[in-house]
Amino acid sequence: MKTQLENIYESAKADIEKAQSISDIDEIRLKYLSRKGEFNSIKKGLKDLSDEDKRTIGALANQITQDLECLLKEKHETFYQKELNEKLQNDRIDITLSGKYIPEGKVHPITSTTNEIVSIFQNLGFSVISPELSPEVETEYYNFDMLNVPHDHPARDVQDTFYLKGIPNGVLRSQTSGAQIHVMENQKPPIKVIAPGRVYRNENINSRKNNFFHQIEGLYVDKGITFGDLKGVLNEFIRLYFGSARPTRFRSSFFPFTEPSAEVDVQCIMCQGKGCRTCSGTGWLEVLGAGMVDVNVLNGVGIDPEIYSGFAFGMGVERLSMLKYAIDDIRLFFNNDKRFLEQF
Ligand code: PHE
Repeated sequence: MKTQLENIYESAKADIEKAQSISDIDEIRLKYLSRKGEFNSIKKGLKDLSDEDKRTIGALANQITQDLECLLKEKHETFYQKELNEKLQNDRIDITLSGKYIPEGKVHPITSTTNEIVSIFQNLGFSVISPELSPEVETEYYNFDMLNVPHDHPARDVQDTFYLKGIPNGVLRSQTSGAQIHVMENQKPPIKVIAPGRVYRNENINSRKNNFFHQIEGLYVDKGITFGDLKGVLNEFIRLYFGSARPTRFRSSFFPFTEPSAEVDVQCIMCQGKGCRTCSGTGWLEVLGAGMVDVNVLNGVGIDPEIYSGFAFGMGVERLSMLKYAIDDIRLFFNNDKRFLEQF
């Protein structure tokens, strides 16, 4: 048995000498040292030996196995280093190759303008209402009734508003003002919120009008809120949004849900008030609608107008974005032309 072991040892050693690669080494290990390998079949015969022989032959077998392991490991290491060096030699990086172009995503200008306006109002103490208080699929109740819009008001016409089949009195909201009602139904004053979102109108599409666009609604209700507060907040907004104190003009106007109401103009960005095509020669650009929350609206949601007063405003995101970046066609925002979108 001893010679048998020594013979196997010799032939394994010879095989290791001859090995050329890591895979040769792995094969040799399988052939001699694995469970089905040659050593194991001999070790199985150990149990038939006398105690004395078991001890000496067993020790020898262990010694030989250890020696072989050692040799295999050494060889393996040599081949590993060799293969690694070859790889490092051959796989050298070619720094003269031109780089791969990785297209970069951009934030859509409507999103970035919205974010900018929202953050200005947040700095002025307004918080953004939660989305469930500002749904795009509305009912006439929130979009019109509770906002004091009379039943024969032209805005209710199918010419102007998208009505929904299958939802009783369902409409795609034509303004974000319905959010005012949701908030006041759910929250007691003081209320100081903004609601950004998409609105829909049944318009003929042209360079200034699209059948959906984005608005940001604002509402501030508390004790003692005045028109002076409204002017202060909106003037500050315009200063922060356009980057410098621009002349503004509050024009008397009408909205069913505010009284008094105003439309706010800023001096034309293009001609500095001299009069040009953008401002149709007037020197002014209308940027938002606003006013003091109508008593009927406050009564409707159960807020006592003897104790509380408030102001509301609504502005068009596309319009503000177009003015700031001198964009002359609203459709550019929505036809996904990368040449346009990549500029932001
Ligand atoms: N909802 C109005 C519009 O869409 C704007 C507005 C909002 C006016 C709040 C007054 C107060 O034109």
